[in-house]
Amino acid sequence: MSLLVLFIYCISLVSGLTRTQSAETRCIERERRALLQLKNGLVDEAGILSSWSSHRSSQDCCIWRGVGCSNRTNRVIRLDLNGFWSDDLAARVELSGDINSSLLELNHLNHLDISYNSFNRIPEFIGSLRKLRYLNLSNILFEDSKVPPQLGNLTNLQTLDLSSFSIILKNTEWISKLSSLQTLHINYVDLSESDRLLENLITRLPSLFELHLVSCLLPQIPFTIPVSNISKYLSILDISFNDLPSSLIYPWLFNLSDSLTSIDLSRNDLHGTIPEAFGTLATLQNLDLSGTRLEGGIPKSFGNFSFLDSLYLNGNNLSEDLHSFFRQLAPAEKSIRVLDLSSNNFTGFLPDFTVFTALNELHLKGNDLKGSFPAILEHTSNLLILDLADNQISGFLPDLLVLSSLRELYFERNRLEGTLGERLMPLSELQFLGASSNLLNGTISETHLTNLSRLVYLDLSYNFLVLEIDSDWSPAFSLDTISMSSCKLGPTFPAWLRTQKNLTIIDISGAQIDDFVPDWF
Ligand SMILES: *[C@@H]1O[C@H](CO)[C@@H](O)[C@H](O)[C@H]1NC(C)=O
Ligand SMILES: *[C@@H]1O[C@H](CO)[C@@H](O)[C@H](O)[C@H]1NC(C)=O
Ligand SMILES: *[C@@H]1O[C@H](CO)[C@@H](O)[C@H](O)[C@H]1NC(C)=O
Ligand SMILES: *[C@@H]1O[C@H](CO)[C@@H](O)[C@H](O)[C@H]1NC(C)=O
Ligand SMILES: *[C@@H]1O[C@H](CO)[C@@H](O)[C@H](O)[C@H]1NC(C)=O
Ligand SMILES: *[C@@H]1O[C@H](CO)[C@@H](O)[C@H](O)[C@H]1NC(C)=O
Ligand SMILES: *[C@@H]1O[C@H](CO)[C@@H](O)[C@H](O)[C@H]1NC(C)=O
Ligand SMILES: *[C@@H]1O[C@H](CO)[C@@H](O)[C@H](O)[C@H]1NC(C)=O
Ligand SMILES: *[C@@H]1O[C@H](CO)[C@@H](O)[C@H](O)[C@H]1NC(C)=O
Ligand SMILES: *[C@@H]1O[C@H](CO)[C@@H](O)[C@H](O)[C@H]1NC(C)=O
Ligand SMILES: *[C@@H]1O[C@H](CO)[C@@H](O)[C@H](O)[C@H]1NC(C)=O
Ligand SMILES: *[C@@H]1O[C@H](CO)[C@@H](O)[C@H](O)[C@H]1NC(C)=O
Repeated sequence: MSLLVLFIYCISLVSGLTRTQSAETRCIERERRALLQLKNGLVDEAGILSSWSSHRSSQDCCIWRGVGCSNRTNRVIRLDLNGFWSDDLAARVELSGDINSSLLELNHLNHLDISYNSFNRIPEFIGSLRKLRYLNLSNILFEDSKVPPQLGNLTNLQTLDLSSFSIILKNTEWISKLSSLQTLHINYVDLSESDRLLENLITRLPSLFELHLVSCLLPQIPFTIPVSNISKYLSILDISFNDLPSSLIYPWLFNLSDSLTSIDLSRNDLHGTIPEAFGTLATLQNLDLSGTRLEGGIPKSFGNFSFLDSLYLNGNNLSEDLHSFFRQLAPAEKSIRVLDLSSNNFTGFLPDFTVFTALNELHLKGNDLKGSFPAILEHTSNLLILDLADNQISGFLPDLLVLSSLRELYFERNRLEGTLGERLMPLSELQFLGASSNLLNGTISETHLTNLSRLVYLDLSYNFLVLEIDSDWSPAFSLDTISMSSCKLGPTFPAWLRTQKNLTIIDISGAQIDDFVPDWF
């Protein structure tokens, strides 16, 4: 009897063993050894690769951190070995050292992310990983900062990210050989010597869909290739921070009109008025023309944008009546989420902005808006940020109930009058309130502030406000900044401040306090 039990036990032990072993051997032995050799050449102080172990209990390299295998063939097809920033350590968590050529054993690899590390060099042999479709080399700090032209052999590559402050790209000819490329990022790389790169990219890469060349010192050379050869697929174009004049952008840009959905031209030197031709880009969802020294009005053709999601025109010298501009944007009333017109010369009255029902952010700071705040806000809004600071808006604040989703509300340095307290009560999501330098008066009591449990920034300075708050009040919020200069807080020292343990800025100057500074303070 006991012998039989032992026998059965042994059988189950053996079958149990083979079962676990078959799970363990999912990973192909040759590839497992190649990964271990790769690890050997790397310096891994943070233990990113600690699961990559030759120990018997961790034989299945397919479940090692950052390794992905095909479900069908069990071959390694993905490596995500990117470093990252750790808030806890306040440092880069990264790999360094040499990338061993054992990587070539993984010849089914189609996705390789080694971004945000510090390697000695980009090895030439990466150009032999012919199946690669995704290669991320961004933000790598290299000892030897050259990019090998052998990468031009990766003809299956669809996504390439070379963004980096530390690489040198002397020769860029190879990039236009990547005939399958759809997404290319080369941000922050000095391309001032790459004379025809931009032109080559958008004329020779037939599948290019997304191009990011941010802050690359792009050379100021006009296109020489016929405009008919320009890619008809390019959808996302970001050439911000390059200081290019409009004469080198507009002639080809408006020939991309069938496909473009996002354009970022911010911080170029466009100058002059916005051309009507922008309106031919009727499928645009995102347009950023901020900080490009534009002036004059907004072209009528902006009324063609029916799919607009974000529009950044901030930091220019544009002057337009805000009311007529809002009417022009009517086709985008239900789609636009971000509208930034700050630091311009928009004029007229502040219209009822809640007609833009999808709007999350409205930035109108630093314009020339006059007249009274709209008496009624018609529509329930999804606004998270409303910035009206530095205008000349007057009159009373309306009921803000429809704006109860607001997290940030700024209207400093306007001419708003009347009371504020009860207007704040529905704003239970509010984190930042900037109301200084208006003509607000009346009393703010703890009842007005009880709902503002998320508030961290409160600036009520330079109004005619009186704070009447019980000495034993314990607010739900914990402020970081409190600015109540020239409000009436006194005569006794405001005891509720004792509950605010997170303050970094406090200004209660000129607040009519006539009392001893308490010890706890
Ligand atoms: C492979 O299988 C896992 C687990 O069943 C699944 O989560 C994953 O999506 C599959 N991967 C592919 C590429 O099919
Ligand atoms: C790869 O690793 C092997 C064995 O550790 C070593 O001999 C070889 O020099 C390494 N090659 C590279 C390119 O680092
Ligand atoms: C490349 O990796 C970085 C993080 O290391 C990431 O932010 C970036 O989006 C990646 N690029 C692409 C094109 O996926
Ligand atoms: C890879 O590219 C280099 C340089 O562009 C070239 O000399 C070499 O022949 C290519 N290798 C293969 C296998 O095509
Ligand atoms: C423009 O495209 C045509 C047809 O695709 C091609 O034959 C021609 O070589 C291209 N011209 C240039 C200058 O790239
Ligand atoms: C395309 O470019 C040509 C030459 O610069 C220009 O005449 C034409 O108007 C452009 N097409 C569009 C739709 O802007
Ligand atoms: C706007 O125009 C004024 C006067 O024409 C000029 O002084 C100022 O520099 C311009 N600002 C910008 C941002 O271009
Ligand atoms: C854009 O608007 C202008 C005038 O506002 C109009 O003439 C033009 O046909 C419109 N273009 C498209 C593509 O809708
Ligand atoms: C702003 O627009 C007003 C009215 O059109 C004009 O008087 C003023 O000069 C403009 N200011 C700037 C800085 O362009
Ligand atoms: C406080 O906020 C809640 C939503 O969080 C809201 O229902 C309530 O009406 C607000 N109280 C007042 C007095 O407005
Ligand atoms: C507040 O100011 C308004 C005019 O802006 C005035 O009518 C009202 O009497 C003032 N209220 C208090 C309490 O001072
Ligand atoms: C104080 O600030 C810290 C860091 O900003 C935050 O984590 C914490 O939640 C804050 N405390 C309170 C009571 O809000």
